[in-house]
Amino acid sequence: MTTRLTLAPRVDAVSASATLAVDGKAKRMRAAGMDVIGFGAGEPDFPTPEHIVEAARQACGELAMQKYGPTAGLPALREAIAAKTLRDSGYAVTAEQVVVTNGGKHAVFAALAAVAGEGDEVLLPAPYWNTYEEAAKYTGATVVVVPGAEENGFRVTVEQLEAALTPRTKVLAFVSPSNPTGSVYSQQEIKDIGSWALANDLWVVTDEIYEHLVYGETAFHSLPVEVPELAERTIVVNGVAKSFSMTGWRVGWLIGPPRVADAAERLQSHLTSHVAHVSQRAALAAVSGGLDDTRRMHAAFQRRRDTIHSLMTQVPGVTCRLPEGAFYVFPSFRSVIGRSFFGTRVESTLQLADLVLDRARVAFVPGEAFGAPGYGRFSYALADDLMVEGVQRIIDAFGRGLE
Ligand SMILES: Cc1ncc(COP(=O)(O)O)c(C=O)c1O
Repeated sequence: MTTRLTLAPRVDAVSASATLAVDGKAKRMRAAGMDVIGFGAGEPDFPTPEHIVEAARQACGELAMQKYGPTAGLPALREAIAAKTLRDSGYAVTAEQVVVTNGGKHAVFAALAAVAGEGDEVLLPAPYWNTYEEAAKYTGATVVVVPGAEENGFRVTVEQLEAALTPRTKVLAFVSPSNPTGSVYSQQEIKDIGSWALANDLWVVTDEIYEHLVYGETAFHSLPVEVPELAERTIVVNGVAKSFSMTGWRVGWLIGPPRVADAAERLQSHLTSHVAHVSQRAALAAVSGGLDDTRRMHAAFQRRRDTIHSLMTQVPGVTCRLPEGAFYVFPSFRSVIGRSFFGTRVESTLQLADLVLDRARVAFVPGEAFGAPGYGRFSYALADDLMVEGVQRIIDAFGRGLE
């Protein structure tokens, strides 16, 4: 190969989504006839509620929905997202601040691309969802990882953020409820972190995609609501994928101050033009309808969380904290590292995940993918019986194979 034919360094540096990779491997094994139980994908197992699907069916037949439309999204959808945001988090925004994107993932990318670049540092609390790391790197910025200790529920403190602050720090990426840990920051922690970001003149990208998935006594709190002065420097990321079981429809959004929304819209006008209208109309039905379906799914997730947590704590050598939100448990396999599993010395959770897939036919995402080696992410967005059987397989395999 000639030197001209190298890939662009920024693209070359992007690693594939580890969660999609695990899910892909499990699906391939299943296609080859193997009985694999997958805890990999962060994808609700429920079908999209029927009234949402029906809205999409109707849209298919409308001429205007078959043609190009406004880059930032259908006006009715942007209005409905603004109204939904006030209803659900108490954050008052205008429709002009909303840019509808191809999923929350695209909103993460657009938000970071709008405010971060060469020479900037992005503070990223770990364990983190790997898209944040890759998207921030792609902007040319440097990612500064701030590890949240398990003893503190994987949440970072203001003191830790302060210690990571440099003159180049420009953005704080904040996700609560968290993927991958399911941790949820308290109202006071959110006030403290928001006030700190404000005092240090930072942009904040705050991801509220799991806002409806909090359990027990835990409540969701939105950063720009807790610290209203943050509004002019905050970009909210959200979408319909998790709350309405709409992962495949690819609709998310960002909400930012007007100049950020404008920048994201300009970027999108060259990247994707806009989200498919049929999907936008489905999202409109979702966000402007009630939350009955979301509550039904929430009840199932809460039940599964309790079940998987109690099963996980029965796996020999594994500890697992009870997560307050999202649909993930994040057990620690640290005491398994260095031991032998069916005759192979376990060096890392990356390797353990592969061994468990081969030996127990169970797929989970190793903590390395989230900046947290020694842990594993198990999504409990799968049917109850499969979930129980899957963890039981690990209990059995660890019981038989761990020395
Ligand atoms: C924290 C977080 N933000 C955003 C997303 C994006 O979801 P989607 O692109 O499917 O809307 C996900 C999906 O896993 C997520 O976990």
